[in-house]
Amino acid sequence: MLADKVRASGFDPDVMVAIGTGGFIPARILKTYLKKPILTVGLLLYSDDNKPKESPMILQWIDEGEKRLTGKRILLVDEVDDSRITLGYCVRQLLRHSPAEIGVAVVHNKRKVKNGTLPAEVRLYVAGAEIEDRWICYPWDALDISEHEKLAQASTLRPSSQGA
Ligand code: G4P
Ligand code: MG
Repeated sequence: MLADKVRASGFDPDVMVAIGTGGFIPARILKTYLKKPILTVGLLLYSDDNKPKESPMILQWIDEGEKRLTGKRILLVDEVDDSRITLGYCVRQLLRHSPAEIGVAVVHNKRKVKNGTLPAEVRLYVAGAEIEDRWICYPWDALDISEHEKLAQASTLRPSSQGA
């Protein structure tokens, strides 16, 4: 659904930037459809004790950013737009490299009051599904993937039943 929305928007990225770690697997799946290369950044908002930090921490950034990002159309990919703090922070960091355009694609957007903001330079914003503000258990978080899949199949909250 997300790939269809990106394609329908007419935004044709040169490169995807995946925010790790949650954005890695969605970006890789998007690559199957969009056929664009992926660069990755590591940002962390929550520490191991599940307490949010004041501002996201950069674990890893893109080497030779000027070469890889300047003048490029970037599609920033993450799994979830929650508080929007990490997304907004990452867009601002990317803007420092003077890209041609920036779009943002997330698998899920939680409908809630956002503490973070996206700069006006963001040309495209797409979410695969709009959801209420609940904790999402992603398959990559599951310790038992078969059990997770069974629960997902039985769930009434599957994206297909949300009309998104
Ligand atoms: P946002 O800008 O994208 O809205 O993100 P925000 O700063 O609010 O922080 C998001 C952090 O919280 C991310 O983890 C994200 O994965 C996680 N998160 C928020 N809502 C959910 C949810 O419903 N389910 C799951 N599984 N995670 C959620 P992070 O600290 O950046 O690390 P990582 O998990 O991506 O490695
Ligand atoms: Mg994340």
